[in-house]
Amino acid sequence: MSVNSLEALDRRHWVHPVSNWAGHEKRGVTVMKSAKGAFITDADGHELIDGFAGLWCVNVGYGHDSIVEAAARQMRELPYATGYFSFGSEPTIRLAAKLAELTPGDLDHIYFSLGGSDAVDSALRLIRFYYNVTGRPQKKQIISLERGYHGSSSTGAGVTALPAFHAGFDLPAEGQHYIASPYPYRNPTGSDDAAVIAANVAALRAKVEELGANTVAAFFCEPVQGSGGVVVPPRGWLKAMRETAAELDILFVADEVITGFGRTGPMFACEAEGVVPDMMTMAKGLTSGYAPLGALAIGEKVYRAIADNAPAGGPIGHGYTYSGHPVSAAVALEVLRLYEEGGILANGQRVGAYFEERLATLADHPLVGEVRARGLLAGIELVADKVTKQKLPRETKLPDHLFARGYANGVIFRAFADDIIGLAPPLCCSEAEIDLIVTRLRKTLDEVMALPEVAAGLAVAKAA
Ligand SMILES: Cc1ncc(COP(=O)(O)O)c(C=O)c1O
Repeated sequence: MSVNSLEALDRRHWVHPVSNWAGHEKRGVTVMKSAKGAFITDADGHELIDGFAGLWCVNVGYGHDSIVEAAARQMRELPYATGYFSFGSEPTIRLAAKLAELTPGDLDHIYFSLGGSDAVDSALRLIRFYYNVTGRPQKKQIISLERGYHGSSSTGAGVTALPAFHAGFDLPAEGQHYIASPYPYRNPTGSDDAAVIAANVAALRAKVEELGANTVAAFFCEPVQGSGGVVVPPRGWLKAMRETAAELDILFVADEVITGFGRTGPMFACEAEGVVPDMMTMAKGLTSGYAPLGALAIGEKVYRAIADNAPAGGPIGHGYTYSGHPVSAAVALEVLRLYEEGGILANGQRVGAYFEERLATLADHPLVGEVRARGLLAGIELVADKVTKQKLPRETKLPDHLFARGYANGVIFRAFADDIIGLAPPLCCSEAEIDLIVTRLRKTLDEVMALPEVAAGLAVAKAA
């Protein structure tokens, strides 16, 4: 390897997101080179089916020339226009209007960010501002779900409830609280839908009561928890939590950064349960990863209250240079056209049902404790013992083996640290491509199980 090879330069200079820095220095980078449809090819020419759509974002699939053309056209005509000074640009205005039309209910006001973390951060800042300008400054506390992920901004990382995002970062901060994840597979009340929902509603009520209702600002949740291991709550859970939040007079924020744009079937997961949150965050599928963009949709109640009660004259001090970037907006408009007129949303719905069915066939594998899915978003939880749900010892490093064998077998998925496989194939997948993912997954599970380290881990877990 030459000193200036990509691998060497990467080792010396690129600090990778959510990586173990020393571990990455040892392992080195895997350079991706090109992609088309649901397939991605690395710099060694190894072609893989991308069962994770990049990072749950390339919903329309790779290689759409019409998106490239939309970006190029916008770059030529007007590569940048600020949203400050009351300036604007056509694609951003059209995109805001389109999102207002697509999002449920009165979520008609769109603030643009660059991704999910800053959409969540914007929600947190504006919620604080909302209560301050409407004379309720004591309403500051935020409740979210254990296993929840809401990005890694300084404040948002504390709304996230994953240990790696707290340890060493002095989080959670004051005023950040959690209730149990609905997590049917490991819910102490059992996996009965009604019991899981009732327990979670009771937990939210109890937490609000403990903190004092007049001090609680908002409840944040993902309609299906993604980075916490793809926890699929029972149908009806989202609606019940939304109604409880309204009753308790706290804002309900749905984080649809993963679940938005057809990932679970409908355009937004909230739609499936007729839920209208007070605020909704989105990113990822909004541009399908072709350009960075996120958004915060704000309902009429919060928007109007801020507009009418903010100190007259001065600005509301929240914004970024790239809020509403016209190139990202042009990309998003074309991506939204592909979902609707291009038939990708409908394809995702059809293939999502097939995916759920085919993935369920893996439940008979000795390592599989549970397969759970909603549309094209799925988790496979691996255990050493299906009855006790005991996990393999951490030293087995099951996720590392899974990822490496999967990669060798030509399938990309997320291998979460707690032995859960995450899947989010592009919505453009065909049935044959879903079959390929499932076949390669089974082969990967078989090979991993045959590894001496894993066999030893299974023996230790079973003896425990
Ligand atoms: C639900 C959710 N919220 C927020 C984020 C943060 O988004 P980003 O990584 O674009 O900052 C993510 C990222 O995976 C997410 O899954």
